[in-house]
Amino acid sequence: MTHRAIAIDGPAASGKSTLARKLAGRLGLIMVNTGEMYRAITWELLRCGVDPGDRAAVVEALAGMDLGCGVRAGRSTVTVDGVDPGPELRSDEVNARVSEVAATPEVRERLVALQRDYLKLGDVVMEGRDIGTVVFPDTPFKIYIDASERVRSARREADGESDSVGRRDQADSSRRTAPLRVATDAAFLDNSDLDAEETLDAALRLLAEKGWKSTDLMER
Ligand code: DC
Repeated sequence: MTHRAIAIDGPAASGKSTLARKLAGRLGLIMVNTGEMYRAITWELLRCGVDPGDRAAVVEALAGMDLGCGVRAGRSTVTVDGVDPGPELRSDEVNARVSEVAATPEVRERLVALQRDYLKLGDVVMEGRDIGTVVFPDTPFKIYIDASERVRSARREADGESDSVGRRDQADSSRRTAPLRVATDAAFLDNSDLDAEETLDAALRLLAEKGWKSTDLMER
């Protein structure tokens, strides 16, 4: 049986994770957060004193890393050498350096393979920056979600995180390998003026338009 993937891409704090979590709950999907995978590698590099901007050093450290990507309670998990970094994935230090790590082609190659493996486990909703363009280019179910930079910065502040959303977006959109961009066949969802429930409803409508079977849209 072939499993299906819903791809959700968008910039930092656009509401990707919230939407993916809600879709997973509503449609009975495995929710996969790929940003956490890039964050976990960044966390480990910083812990080991490796400069995330030094490609050769990053590649060498990556070769020795045992990355574990699994599922717990319907949601993706990530470990490095058996350790779950937990809240440290969202530390200021990781926020500041993760874009450099994510720009490293060898890092992306390794993670994309792990991300595609999730489809062996069941239907997934996967969120990130290149899910509709690189990880699952053939899925018809693609949503690009966005909100104004003012709204996104305010969301990060409300979460108590200091995160330079604009700087990170600039880096993620301008890198050479798999930059953040809107897939030509993605539905565009601006949620600047929508709350989480309204965003979910809008996404369900877009998925139905793209052919997600209406019986699958019923509450579990
Ligand atoms: O979604 P997030 O903010 O937790 O992602 C952290 C960083 O990881 C983000 O700045 C860009 C990178 N990323 C990526 O390049 N590709 C993905 N599929 C997911 C995240």
